Amino acid sequence: MEGKKLKIKKIGVLTSGGDAPGMNAAIRAVVRSCIFYDVECSGVFQGYDGLINGDFKNMHVRSVSKILARGGTILKSARSDEFRTKAGRQKAAKQLRAAKIDALVTIGGNGTFTGAHLFFKEHGIPVIGVPGTIDNDLFGTDDTIGYDTATNTVIEAVDKIRDTANSHNRLFFVEVMGRDSGFIALHAGIATGAIAVLLPEDDLSIDELIKVLEKGAASKKTSSVVLVAEGDANGGAYEVAKKVTDKYSGYDTRVTVLGHIQRGGAPSCADRVLASRMGVAAVEGLLAGRFDEMIGIISDKEHFTPLQEAISRNIAPNKEELRMSKILSI
Ligand code: F6P
Repeated sequence: MEGKKLKIKKIGVLTSGGDAPGMNAAIRAVVRSCIFYDVECSGVFQGYDGLINGDFKNMHVRSVSKILARGGTILKSARSDEFRTKAGRQKAAKQLRAAKIDALVTIGGNGTFTGAHLFFKEHGIPVIGVPGTIDNDLFGTDDTIGYDTATNTVIEAVDKIRDTANSHNRLFFVEVMGRDSGFIALHAGIATGAIAVLLPEDDLSIDELIKVLEKGAASKKTSSVVLVAEGDANGGAYEVAKKVTDKYSGYDTRVTVLGHIQRGGAPSCADRVLASRMGVAAVEGLLAGRFDEMIGIISDKEHFTPLQEAISRNIAPNKEELRMSKILSI
C-alpha cells in the first residue's frame, strides 16, 4: 500500500523463520541502502524474539562487509512463539518506539509475513517484507531468496546418489524440503532426471508410481531416483519406500533424507543478485511511503504485493513442467 510519506529516520532489519542462503546479501543491501539514503539502520537479532527483547545493534557500512558469500544469517533467526500473541507484538512495538525505529524490513517467509502484517495492522509501524525462504512458496515473486541455492544443493546431492545407485542397480527415494510446496522437488527432479517426483500439488498414487518403475525396469533402467517432497500426501521418503516395497520388489531400495543441508552453504549468484535487488527496493519502497507489502521480482521487474495476498494466494509449480518431466523420465 502506498500511503502518506512519513519521515523515516531509522529502519530496523530482521530475519525470521527458516534461514535461507542469500539472506546476508539482503541484509547488506538494506544496510547499505539506508546509508546511501542517509537513514540509520538497526539490526534486530534473533528475529521477532529480538524485537520483543530489544536485541538491537546499529549497523554501519562495515557491519555487513564480507558476508555476501556466507550462508545463514548474521542477524540470526527464530520462529517466535511470543510474537504470535498480541501481547508479544505489543512488547515489540514498545521496544521499537523506545529505540526510535520508525519502520521495519522483515526478511523471511510465510510465518514472518503473517506476523509482519498483524504487527502493521495493530501498531501502524510501516513494514516491508523481503521473501527469503528456500520453499519458493510466496505469491508475488518469481523466486524467493534461497530457492536457487537450495535446489542446486539438491541436484549436487542427487547427482552423487545417482553414482552409487548406478553402481549397485538400486532404487533411491530422496526426500527434499519445501514444506507444503513441491518447487524444489520438481525442479531438482527435472534437473537430475528423476524417474518420478512426488509433490503435494500432484496426486501420483503409489500404484501409479509402481507402474512407472515397472515400465522403467522393462525398458532396461538399471537404477532410479524418485524425489519425494516432504509435504507429499503419500508420506515422507521412508513411508513411500515402504509402501512401494510392500508391493514391488524389482529393486534393492535405499532412502536418503537430505534435510537441513539444503538450507546451508554459499548462496548462488542468482540468489545474491536477487537478494541485493530486493534489499535496495525494500528500503526505497519504505522511503517512498509503501508499507504492509512484500517486494518481489516478476519477469525481471520489482513489484510490490500486499503481505496479506503474498501469504494467502495459492502458488503451485508449473503443471507444464510436471507434464514435461513425465515425458522425459521414461
Ligand atoms: O521453510 C523452510 C524449511 O526449511 C522447510 O522447507 C521445512 O519444512 C522447514 O523449514 C524446517 O523447519 P525447521 O528448520 O524449523 O525444522
